[in-house]
Amino acid sequence: MHKAICYVSTASPGIAKEEVENLLVKSQLKNNDAGITGLLLYSGGNFLQIIEGSENLIDQLYKKIRLDRRHFNLIQIFERTASKDSYKKYESDFISENMNFNSHKIQHYIEHLQMLDSETRQAVKNILASFIKL
Ligand SMILES: Cc1cc2nc3c(=O)[nH]c(=O)nc-3n(C[C@H](O)[C@H](O)[C@H](O)COP(=O)(O)O)c2cc1C
Repeated sequence: MHKAICYVSTASPGIAKEEVENLLVKSQLKNNDAGITGLLLYSGGNFLQIIEGSENLIDQLYKKIRLDRRHFNLIQIFERTASKDSYKKYESDFISENMNFNSHKIQHYIEHLQMLDSETRQAVKNILASFIKL
């Protein structure tokens, strides 16, 4: 069974930019190795993440993530059983630091959503749009 979880959270106070960058890079490497797909964005002190993969792997990872002290205020947006892969590989990015973050990139992320069911895709689009504006 495949599972997808989406949440937002707040980066812990005092976490350095380098630590966030390190987290993004490490997560991307580990997830690609483990066959976990999805998206992790950091913007204006907040994270937006989607993790997707086999149910066991996602449950294990999500447990770790929820306990991670580098963030707090985790709010789960949805949990879905997915019938197929939605993201080809893991994506992670900083967005607010980059003044050139624009419709180009938004489109790039949205293109990754084509394989999620339309209701979920719409939810992700809305969340992504408001997350980017924060
Ligand atoms: C916002 C946030 C997102 C994270 N996302 C992932 C992730 O996608 N994959 C991952 O392996 N670890 C992620 N982590 C790190 C995990 O919480 C944990 O530290 C990591 O899996 C190391 O576990 P290990 O010590 O068992 O190897 C994330 C942490 C935070 C704060």
